[in-house]
This record gives sequence, C-alpha cells and structure tokens, in this order.
Amino acid sequence: MQHCRLISQASAQRRRLRVIPRTQITAGISMPVLRTLSKVARQALLSTPGCGCQPLTVAVRNISFSPRQVTSDASFHSVSFSETDHPKVLITGGLGQLGVGLAKLLRKRYGKNNVILSDIRKPPSNVFHSGPFIYSDILDYKNLREIVVNNRITWLVHYSALLSAVGEANVSLARSVNITGLHNILDIAAEHGLRLFVPSTIGAFGPTSPRNPTPDLCVQRPRTIYGVSKVHAELMGEYYHHRYGLDFRCLRYPGIISADSMPGGGTTDYAVQIFHDAIKTGKFECNLKPDTRLPMMYIDDCLRATLEVMEAPADSLSMRTYNINAMSFTPDELAQELRKQMPELQVTYDVDPVRQTIADSWPMNFDDSNARRDWGWKHDYDLPELVQTMLNYFGAETRMAHIN
Ligand SMILES: NC(=O)c1ccc[n+]([C@@H]2O[C@H](COP(=O)([O-])OP(=O)(O)OC[C@H]3O[C@@H](n4cnc5c(N)ncnc54)[C@H](O)[C@@H]3O)[C@@H](O)[C@H]2O)c1
Repeated sequence: MQHCRLISQASAQRRRLRVIPRTQITAGISMPVLRTLSKVARQALLSTPGCGCQPLTVAVRNISFSPRQVTSDASFHSVSFSETDHPKVLITGGLGQLGVGLAKLLRKRYGKNNVILSDIRKPPSNVFHSGPFIYSDILDYKNLREIVVNNRITWLVHYSALLSAVGEANVSLARSVNITGLHNILDIAAEHGLRLFVPSTIGAFGPTSPRNPTPDLCVQRPRTIYGVSKVHAELMGEYYHHRYGLDFRCLRYPGIISADSMPGGGTTDYAVQIFHDAIKTGKFECNLKPDTRLPMMYIDDCLRATLEVMEAPADSLSMRTYNINAMSFTPDELAQELRKQMPELQVTYDVDPVRQTIADSWPMNFDDSNARRDWGWKHDYDLPELVQTMLNYFGAETRMAHIN
C-alpha cells in the first residue's frame, strides 16, 4: 500500500511538472531544472523495488542545486562561444599588476570593445581611455550579474584578490574578497555558461609540500589566508567543473615581474622593486634573505600562458589547474645578474620575518610538465633575458624623460 501511495505521489509530481506553462519558467526554475526533476521522478518510479518503499518525494525534494539554482545536468562548456566569434571578456580586479597588460593583449587579439576591464578603484586616465572600463565590486553579486548580462560576457578572467603579504595584514578582508568573492564569480560563471579563468599561485603550497620541484598534485597545506583561499578556489573551480560542467581553467602563476605595473603586496615583490631602486638610486634593500629561492616569470610569459590556456581546446586539458614555470632564482642571483650591467649596484638585506616565513614555505621550483605536454606551454624568458628586458624598458623610459 505504502509503495503504491509513493508511486502515485511521484506520478502526480511528474504530472505537475509537465503542466507548468513555459511562461512560468523563470531564472529561478529553468527548463533544465524541470528536466532534472522529471528525470529523477521517472528514475525513481522505474527503480522502486516491489516493497522496498523508497521515500520518493523526499528524494525529489533533496535534489541538490548550487545556492543559485545551477542544474546538475546543465552543460556549460562555453555554449555561447562559437569558434568563429570573438569572446566577450570581463576582467575583474583589472587595475592591479596584471590586468591592464592582459587587457592589452586580449584587445589586440579580440578587438578593443570585446574586453572590459573592471575594478573598485578609479582607473588612471591612460587606462580609462584605452578601452571599456566598468566599476565592479566582486562582493556585489547582483551588479556582477548585471554586467555579465548587459555586456553578453562569455569569458571571465577573475583577477581580484588580496595577495599574500596584504592578506596576512587583513585576514578578514582577504577572506571575504578571496573566498566570498570567488563564490559569486563561480555562480555567475556557471549560471551564464562562461569560460572562467582564476589564477592560483605558488602560495597554494605550504611547508609540507615537496618544494624542489613542486608537482601539480601533492600535499597542499598553505599557512597564509592567501594560500588557503587559492586552494579553495582551485578545488571549488574543479568541483563546479565536475558537478556542473563549468569550463573552469586555472594556472598557478609564479612570482610575476613587470616593468610598467607595480606589484600588489606579494612576497615576491622584491624582484620588481630591485629594478626600480637600482635605476633610481643604485641601491636596494631586500626584505628576503639572499638565498631565498622562488619560482619567477616575466609578465609577457604569464599573460601569454593565460591566453593560451583559455584558447586551448577543452579536450586537450587533462586537468583544470596547472603549474606554469619559467625560472627560479634567489635575491643574490638576481643581484649578480643585474651587476653584469650595473657593477656599482649595492644590495643590503633587512629581512621581513612575515615575508620570509611565507617564502620559506613556498616552492623553490615548479614542475610544469603537464602544461607543457597538454597545451604546449613554453616560456620565452630566462633570468638573463628578463634582466635585459627590464633594463631596456627603464633605459628607454629614462631617455624619454630626458627628451621631454
Ligand atoms: N602578481 C603576481 O605575482 C601573482 C602571482 C600569482 C598569482 N597572482 C594572482 O593573479 C591575480 C592578479 O594579481 P595582481 O598582481 O594583478 O593583483 P593586484 O593586487 O595587483 O590587483 C588586485 C586587484 O583587485 C582589486 N580588488 C580588490 N578588492 C576587490 C573587490 N572587492 N572587487 C573588485 N576588485 C577588487 C584591487 O583593487 C586590485 O586592483 C590575483 O588573483 C593574484 O592572486 C598574481
């Protein structure tokens, strides 16, 4: 009897689902949701054993969705992006060290108006006039959704974050921007079928990870809020990929060295600052010990890797989070390379214990063989080319300043 009652409840449920008119299908309950409900009801009916009396109604109600109604059978493999169209890209946190350079690269490839930079800060006028810019706080879910919908965004590059040293100085803000903000991004991306790029970092590893080299898959027990939030981002992105088909792509960047943009408060910042100080004063005071070895990369390699992994065919990606590597050096080795061109450079050391503890827990070198094998990653810049390129940039800048 109980069995029959449950079957008739499920049948009624199925009938109710079938008669919902199309006009009632809103953002809250979409066609795939209904299909899932019908499918579960049907499967439950078919699989109910003679007198096993499974609680069918409970099973239907318990279908789990993400908090924002992403369906379990939805396929989000960039459905809205056809290979002949250019993607429409939104970059969050775009006014930091990396965003402006990435926008420049992507605009060259996809057209100026197809790449929108966003941030919570006011853009300098050269950035504001170089292409579309929009205010976006990643903690404001409705505003993010509006931007994605109104601009028909198909790719999202999520750069907003508080970096390692800044994060340790403000744990609660880092937790909110790096974790709550990421949740908003994941839900928006899944809901709108976006291809999503989220960078991770060498900081996603910790003192118990193998450090030289660090492979893609190993123990990850970081001890900074930055690292913890990035492991969370890797795992949540991969979970959304497996659970909802989200086209999530993630690279673990080494410390990034750039000439025309300043770093945002990370542990590898010294490797940028040394060039500025060497050119200006001929002196540099380093906040890490001379033998602290960390993986580093020139910004052009980092941005090209990002573009390449975003363009890689989905079936070439055997994983969704990859290490990428270029070079690995210590402050002393960097200073020696600089001295080949600036023999008078003086480097002293005043170690910052917070940064040193962080650096001592991070990889010394990355194993990026999976990225090289799967989508052909190859870096262009080693230490000598990096130093030469940085000095050329500052040399040209100084010459320009003299002319003006
Ligand atoms: N630069 C590196 O060496 C490096 C290395 C590894 C990984 N990464 C990752 O790459 C990404 C970009 O790095 P970056 O160096 O450009 O960072 P950055 O600190 O220079 O810039 C981050 C940007 O995020 C913005 N932001 C902060 N709170 C925000 C909010 N609530 N809403 C929207 N924007 C907000 C900031 O205004 C800032 O412009 C980050 O996710 C970082 O973790 C960077």
